[in-house]
Amino acid sequence: MDIETFVRGLPKTDLHMHLEGSIEPELMIALAGRNSIPLRWDTADALRQAYQFDNLQSFLELYFEGCRVLVTQADFYDVTWAYLNRAHADGVVHAEMFIGPQSFTERDVPIEALLNGVLKAISDAQSAYGISAGLLISVHRHRSEAEAIAVLDQIEPWQNHVVGIGMGGAERGNPPSRFANFYQMARERGLRTCVHAGEEGPAAYVREAIEVLAVDRIDHGNACLDDPDLVVDLADRGIPLTVCPLSNLRLNVVTDMKWHPLRAMIDAGLNVTVNSDDPPYFGGYVTENLLACHEALDLSIEDIILLVRNGINAAFIAPGERSRLLAKLTNYAGAAVR
Ligand code: ADE
Ligand code: ZN
Repeated sequence: MDIETFVRGLPKTDLHMHLEGSIEPELMIALAGRNSIPLRWDTADALRQAYQFDNLQSFLELYFEGCRVLVTQADFYDVTWAYLNRAHADGVVHAEMFIGPQSFTERDVPIEALLNGVLKAISDAQSAYGISAGLLISVHRHRSEAEAIAVLDQIEPWQNHVVGIGMGGAERGNPPSRFANFYQMARERGLRTCVHAGEEGPAAYVREAIEVLAVDRIDHGNACLDDPDLVVDLADRGIPLTVCPLSNLRLNVVTDMKWHPLRAMIDAGLNVTVNSDDPPYFGGYVTENLLACHEALDLSIEDIILLVRNGINAAFIAPGERSRLLAKLTNYAGAAVR
């Protein structure tokens, strides 16, 4: 079996992806037409050409522009359904998907349209393919903590269908500690917690994420390697890092895949997982991310299986489901190398 077939067939997780960042250019153009939203591009190819970024900020500008095409419940359904179809084709068996309501509610899109559309697609994909998916509500770190807390109140009627919360957006100058009360309140409401930290921001933000916010998972976390004591703490506590290699490459967090810290993270005993972030913008789903690392960093088959196992162990799922997925991985990996 060739490596690509092997990796695609692995029962994988995608624990760090943004539904707003999963809109393939063809769907973006279709949704813009359906909702009469003017776009700066007429064709999917022209749009794809625009996916060239200098840094996180230049990406976020396009990403927020793209959010405008999502208006109705059917739009949120279609985007979620399209992602889950692609994830299923990619061999993902469990996904955890961020969506940030503030991009939509600021334009008077009702929160009901967003949540009902996304949740219906999750349920339909589970029935159609057996893929499981959890919803993570993310807030924008470049807005205020009061606005983040307002999001918690808005989602309360759906709280049993939401797995956890996260935070993304412009990192530098917006340290995690600004959101201590928000994270505390989310935890008290029974939600799991994660935060983007150490993508463009410093190791100190990763430290704050675990010490001040006490999050269950760190999204990205690359910068932790600048602080050896922090690496030891993260490794000892087994705190998962949801790393997104192609995202890091396309946003110039690393200048070349061969300099990506994933290898060093594995060697330091960190609990690292590989994820897609915003797949069409960055050129790949989980399989492409793993293959890019395999090629550039000389990851072995055992390393790849470890990364996939870490993903299953880091997922916000019930113990029975975790055991089922781990057994599936063991079966697949055993059969493939036999
Ligand atoms: N929102 C979507 N992708 C993101 C990323 N890589 N960093 C911060 N916020 C994001
Ligand atoms: Zn992200």
